[in-house]
Amino acid sequence: DAGKSGYDHYMLKEIHEQPNAIRKCLRERVTEMDATVSVSELDELDHDGPVQFVACGTSYHASLYGARLLREQGIRAQCFLASEYDTEMQPVGGDTLVIGVTQSGETADTMNALRAANRAGATTLALTNGVGSSAARECDYVMYIRAGPEIGVAATKTFASQQVSLALLTGVLSGQYSSQEIRRLRDLPDQLQRVLDESNARTVAEAYADAEAYFFIGRGYDAPVALEGALKMKEITYKHAEGFAAGELKHGPLALVTENTPVFATITGDANASKTLGNVKEVEARNAPVVAVTDSSSDVAQYADHVLEVPAAGPRFTPILANVQLQLVSYWVANGLGRSIDKPRNLAKSVTVE
Ligand code: G6P
Repeated sequence: DAGKSGYDHYMLKEIHEQPNAIRKCLRERVTEMDATVSVSELDELDHDGPVQFVACGTSYHASLYGARLLREQGIRAQCFLASEYDTEMQPVGGDTLVIGVTQSGETADTMNALRAANRAGATTLALTNGVGSSAARECDYVMYIRAGPEIGVAATKTFASQQVSLALLTGVLSGQYSSQEIRRLRDLPDQLQRVLDESNARTVAEAYADAEAYFFIGRGYDAPVALEGALKMKEITYKHAEGFAAGELKHGPLALVTENTPVFATITGDANASKTLGNVKEVEARNAPVVAVTDSSSDVAQYADHVLEVPAAGPRFTPILANVQLQLVSYWVANGLGRSIDKPRNLAKSVTVE
């Protein structure tokens, strides 16, 4: 228990370690003065071809976020679940950079995908927390996310560190970050601390502890937050949770929405947020409780039963803060149910079988 530093669970400790994890991730990699990003491990990397991400679980959600960052800078980027990756179906040329996002650096599916990419002649990069891990050794390049050891099976601080690392990588590959974006990145640790200090996630968790199921929606950069919010909820509470891009609500999930299924809507300044607001009104009309995770960039608060507020860090980085609110909600629901939070049933920290 000494390792928990007074927290009841490693997961809660690791959630609270996120501001520092991000500080470490950014250290000596960003310079505000001349708006540059430099990652010493990638000094030799000179790439302007397409990018393919391969990853599993939470790391796949980070990849979805990273691919969007790259696409926004004009870089072709696709995401694949590592277990579905096939270099023949998704042709890999010598100009392709295949990035394995893997916290442990040991996940069998991701390793297989990276090996296949190497065989096909791609340039490979491991984005990992595992110093000297199998992924780090397999790839041509490695970028460390520097999150420090994560004991809880449910990934928390490594997800935030992956997101920040992907933001840095985008700066390296595109060479086009503005000083405003650099400043936003540097401000993130303090803003995340504010989220942790002021969060009302526990109250929200207690209000909906008996819910039948939980839904999570978001668009654009908020869509991976919805997927990750649901995954965290499933992993540690054992309750049904589903996350999807908000636009998909009307294509099926809406049939399941009742007064016993709270809907967590993340709206953090994406250009299409007003459409998510439309979805919120739809679920409200079906009497579902609405929890808005927002930086007050829209008037969603006025339609929500509860609001989990986050500071504004711009459209690219505010979702990183929003995710932390959802981590806390899952934690407090699981805690109320007395679940085995750090070691959920049937799950492993690192899955080394296919
Ligand atoms: C396991 C863990 C997840 C993790 C996934 C991928 O399923 O329980 O938390 O997201 O593996 O792990 P990786 O180490 O490759 O990021």
